[in-house]
This record gives sequence, structure tokens and C-alpha cells, in this order.
Amino acid sequence: MFLRQLHLRNFRNYLDQVVEFGAPKTIVLGENAQGKSNLLESVQLLATGRTYRISRDRELVLQQKDQGKISAMVERAGSLVELDLLLRINGRRTARINGTTQRRVSDLLGQLNAVCFSSLDLDLVRGGPESRRDWLDGVLVQLEPLYVHLLEQYRRVLQQRNSLLKQAAEHPPSPDELALWDAQLVTTGVAISRRRARLIDRLAPMAIHWHTAISGGREALHVRYSPKIPMLSQDPVQLQHDFLAAIDEKKKLELMRGTSLIGPHRDEVDLSIDETPARLFGSQGQQRTLVLALKLAELALIESVAGEPPLLLLDDVLAELDLNRQNQLLDAIGDRVQTIVTTTHLGAFDSNWLKSAEIFTVNAGIVSPN
Ligand SMILES: Nc1ncnc2c1ncn2[C@@H]1O[C@H](COP(=O)(O)OP(=O)(O)O)[C@@H](O)[C@H]1O
Ligand SMILES: [Mg+2]
Repeated sequence: MFLRQLHLRNFRNYLDQVVEFGAPKTIVLGENAQGKSNLLESVQLLATGRTYRISRDRELVLQQKDQGKISAMVERAGSLVELDLLLRINGRRTARINGTTQRRVSDLLGQLNAVCFSSLDLDLVRGGPESRRDWLDGVLVQLEPLYVHLLEQYRRVLQQRNSLLKQAAEHPPSPDELALWDAQLVTTGVAISRRRARLIDRLAPMAIHWHTAISGGREALHVRYSPKIPMLSQDPVQLQHDFLAAIDEKKKLELMRGTSLIGPHRDEVDLSIDETPARLFGSQGQQRTLVLALKLAELALIESVAGEPPLLLLDDVLAELDLNRQNQLLDAIGDRVQTIVTTTHLGAFDSNWLKSAEIFTVNAGIVSPN
């Protein structure tokens, strides 16, 4: 898939900017705070509905304006699709495909696929479990847009159940009432956990493959799903049964603590290198290599499901890789994968990258050919 054109209106620090992409690789060059990350963020929003710099839509719209718009012309399977995402400072988003307003904003998901890697993604290794859960969810959303609704449903159920548990000291909930929420937690929770488990099953071998390729095969990577619900069966009914039993066992504690202790909101993904948790392991460079391997695995998986490679967005991270790893990456993606890279300086780039890329400069929200 290929992003031909991006049009940003009142988005972040962009007033009205059209960017035409002509080459498989684009380098966006600019000083700090000029709008490099904002540009990639707009593509990520179209692809996933979220952004790695979590903010409310109010912050995404250019200051002093009521609404902003991200539009894209995407070429996929040989035809052009026009995507629009309208953002309002107080209100809902609107999505359009080829000019037709969609019933749900999530209908936009799956139209444009992108894998993003910024320095914040190093939290995948260094950060808490929620960074890894967010990563899984971000991939699943692109593979299976309905997953968004599942997540929303789970979040709602969890919130209700938690508020019930929180009030338990003063107003003990009736067993029937709690059982109602337990049942919903269990059905949506199992649906989420099964999808996450399947995802890891498919991602892990690819991540290991890339990690071996980039690190030169000196270290052994393990990627393991560590679900918070018991997962000893493949059968969803059995899983729901086991989840419910696990809740029952912890119910006293849950009532005491006023919160739900079991469920995919507490999942973890174990990343280890040579059996040492990756978070405790090694240098920035090693952690970067690991995240890159995870991202390339994500890319390969999305490609195999969507039938076309997603975009690769590298925000300020390529120049941080040594030349050897830059070349490994270049070999891996070739010209098949449209790649947009941001940087403050071209000096650290391998010459192969510079030769094959189109270079834009961004200055205070204005993009121009270098
Ligand atoms: N809603 C907004 N309206 C106007 N400017 C914004 C908005 N959100 C962010 N900015 C500005 O965008 C700039 C940061 O852009 P960013 O893309 O993060 O920079 P960089 O080029 O370093 O990646 C800052 O100057 C910030 O003030
Ligand atoms: Mg930036």
C-alpha cells in the first residue's frame, strides 16, 4: 500500500499543508518542534485511530480552531482510496471513505495500515505492562477492526464492576448484581485474551527471526504471552468457566481492595533475552534492536493479513541505529515498504538510505522539498 498524498488542515501546527509522496522512502528533516512528529502522528491516527502521544482531540486541532482534518489518498490493490478524518475540539470524530461519511469512525480502520516506531516505543521494553498491552491492542485493531468494540466493551464492564467493588465497603453489592458483571467481564475478557494469545503465537517467531538477523544471532529472544486469566484450554467455554472460577477465588480480596484483580487489563507480555527479562537487559542499542525486531514482526504480520505491506513510520529512531543496523533494516524492507523517516540531521544516515529517499524539510508547520 502506498500513501500518495496527505492533506492536513488545522491539525497540530499545520494550517493547510499538502504533502505528495513520490518515492518508497521519504526523509522528513527539521529542527526540533517544527512538526515532524505531528506529520507521522496524522498518518498513525488514520491507521489506528490513536496516537502514541496520547492526547485529547482538543490538543490535536490547531490552537484557536474548532476542527481539524486529516485527509489521505491511499493506493491499495491498484486503486486509490480517499480517507478523511475530522477532529473536533468538543465532539465526536467523523470518518469518510471516498467522500462517504461512515457510520462509525472505526470503519476507517484497516483502510490504511502503518507500523510506527518512535523513541517512546522503547517503553515496549523499558516500560510497564500497559505499554505492551497497548502494543498488542494497536496491532489487533489493524488486523481486526471489530477488536476496537471488544476493547470498549471490556473497558465499560471493568469500570462498572470496579465502581461496584469500590463502593462495597459502604454498600455491599448483591451477589446477583455482581454476578451479572462477572459474566460480562468473563465473556469479553476471554474474547480479548484469545485474540492476544493468537497474536503472540504468530508474532513471536517473526520477532525472533528479525532479532537474530539484526543482532547477528548472538542472543536468544523469547516472546511469551503471560495472560492474567488461566488459559489451559483452547475452548472458549472452558476458558470462561476457568476465568469465572478464578474470579470467585479472588472475590474476597477484590471486595477488600475495591478493584478487579483478574482479566486482560492485567496481562503481560514477557520479553526476555537469554532468559533475562529484556527490561533489565543491556544497552539502549540492544533495547532498540529488540523493539525494531518487534516492529518488523508486526509489519510482516500485517502484510500477511492485509495482503500488502503497511507503511513504516520511523520517528527520530533511524539515525540512532548504527550503520550496520540501518542497512539490515534497509535490506529487510527493500522498496516494497513505504517508509517515512524523520530526523534532525542527515549526517548519521547510511548513504544507501540517502540515495534512495526523497527528502522534505519541515519548518514551523510548512513542508517543502529539500
Ligand atoms: N494543537 C496545536 N496547535 C498548534 N501547535 C501545536 C499543536 N500541537 C502541537 N503543536 C506544536 O507543534 C510543535 C511540535 O511539533 P512536533 O511534530 O512534535 O515537533 P518535532 O519536529 O520535534 O517532531 C510544537 O511547537 C507545538 O507547540
Ligand atoms: Mg518529534
